[in-house]
Amino acid sequence: MIGVFDSGSGGITVLDALTKRLPDQDFLYLGDHANAPYGHRTSEQIVEMTKTSVDYLMREGCSLVLLACNTAAAVALRTLQQNWLETAYPGNRILGVLVPMVEALTGVPWSQERPHADDNRNHRITLFATRKTIESGAYVEEVLKRAPQIKLTGKACPGLVDAIEGGAGDAPLSGLISGFVSETLETNPDAVVLGCTHFPLVKHYFETALPDHVSLYSQPEIVADSLADYLKRHPHFHSKGQGNIRLLTTGDPKAVNKTNLFLPNHLNQFHQAKLNV
Ligand code: DGL
Repeated sequence: MIGVFDSGSGGITVLDALTKRLPDQDFLYLGDHANAPYGHRTSEQIVEMTKTSVDYLMREGCSLVLLACNTAAAVALRTLQQNWLETAYPGNRILGVLVPMVEALTGVPWSQERPHADDNRNHRITLFATRKTIESGAYVEEVLKRAPQIKLTGKACPGLVDAIEGGAGDAPLSGLISGFVSETLETNPDAVVLGCTHFPLVKHYFETALPDHVSLYSQPEIVADSLADYLKRHPHFHSKGQGNIRLLTTGDPKAVNKTNLFLPNHLNQFHQAKLNV
């Protein structure tokens, strides 16, 4: 069983792509709705909260956990891998969503921290993400190492995760998103990345607000391809199951199931995670 974690419901966009890509794999999803959003929390809080959730998923039998949350991946992943995982769960793995995106944007494998000349790639890319992901500088730093010709501009989208989790309607969402998009158009991007797993849930508002020639990197599919490739290289993590999917939340399942209007129908029934028993 593979664990998938997000601060809330955003990681469902990644889970949806994973279940299509790996239909026989069992998944256990945990959304930390009780503590969401992470995007304006301190780094210490994000590390602690992510650790608590990963610990839970590993106790439930997941030897591999994917942080389907850019904020947790940018802020907490390295710390957990280096300072906690090997002692707490030797042999287990935590992966994130940032590595596959950096590889897709640059065309350079993560293991190679130097550029290769590829002038055909998009040169001006806007990254829409949470404030914390942008402040971490992780995307810009990792892209720059591998593809210095790419100008990656970060655009924080405060309030957008809250609006999505809160089930905001059409007008507030399109207003917020067209505002964020228009504030970035002066950099004349060739492409944009929705660098928060919540944002593909409202992708159509981004597509409407963006000029036609701007392409959009779709994180869920890129991450799903990357995980499938990882499982080929590490087959002991690919426990062939029956495609069972279980969704857990640290929040109130009734409230979560009621408000998440943008989730696919088969992925919107959350149950209570009992983290402290
Ligand atoms: N979905 C998450 C991400 O990819 C985090 C959103 C939040 O909790 O602020 O960044």
